[in-house]
Amino acid sequence: MAILLHRRSGFKRNRYCINEMKSKNSDRASHSVQGTMLAVFLVLIVLASAWLFTQRRWWLPDLASAHGIDIDRVFLVTLVISGVLFVLLQGVLAYLAFRYGERRNERARYWIRPKLEKRFALIAGIIIFGVDVTIFALGESQWFKAWGPSPDGTAVIEVMGEQFAWNFRYSGPDGAFGRTDPMQITSTNPFGIDRSDPANADDIVSINQLHLPVGKPVRLRIRSHDVIHSFFLPSQRVKQDAVPGMQIEVWFTPDRAGEYEIACSQLCGLGHYRMRGLLTVEPQDLFEKWLREAAQGGL
Ligand code: CUA
Repeated sequence: MAILLHRRSGFKRNRYCINEMKSKNSDRASHSVQGTMLAVFLVLIVLASAWLFTQRRWWLPDLASAHGIDIDRVFLVTLVISGVLFVLLQGVLAYLAFRYGERRNERARYWIRPKLEKRFALIAGIIIFGVDVTIFALGESQWFKAWGPSPDGTAVIEVMGEQFAWNFRYSGPDGAFGRTDPMQITSTNPFGIDRSDPANADDIVSINQLHLPVGKPVRLRIRSHDVIHSFFLPSQRVKQDAVPGMQIEVWFTPDRAGEYEIACSQLCGLGHYRMRGLLTVEPQDLFEKWLREAAQGGL
């Protein structure tokens, strides 16, 4: 890190002085405007981005899950910390560009002060480390909640990502999933359901349609049988990669009835955009009615 200082007069050569740049008379006129222009540009960028955030343009979709409030808090804290640093650092940069843009009769001198630089590096390091630890601690505690154990009696729904659809599987009235076998996976049997197991008889499979009862915790068991997809419920603040060969579980409680988007947030092939499903959160009786219709093949 080289410290750039600028003096009008009375500059004393010290022993760290390593370089001295003399300005060229021919460039002077054009250069004198550049510092100011850069400063104005930076200030405009800072104002425009700050305005976008305060107006909440391109903001998160309305929250529709119980744990989402904590996720949003992590977002907000991260945004505030990085926002303050952004405004501060761009401000300093703009000021320096403006103040130390080339002027007539001034010469730029560069030299190095090891002690000062070490101090700057240490202070900057401590600040960044502190910010990182804060954000990490906040984010990680939420992670352990959503990816940890769920309340007793939480219903499990299986999710299978494939090119290019989301398949869902409910355990049906017996509350147990029947046997599956990866060797039996076909285009019409994405879960590889083994029909010889009687426990499979009442299991319900739907494509791109997930129904959930409102206010009840649900545990999703997420898999993929081809490439990496990412199961994404923007309104519920749920996002989890579906990884071939892995079975990853995440739980949440949808607490607002309505229809929401299901998306895939990993670029998983040419039909990636088609992995768009519909999540319907509804009262328990409507949910059960839908399950009955789905069981009869009425989907
Ligand atoms: Cu699956 Cu993108």
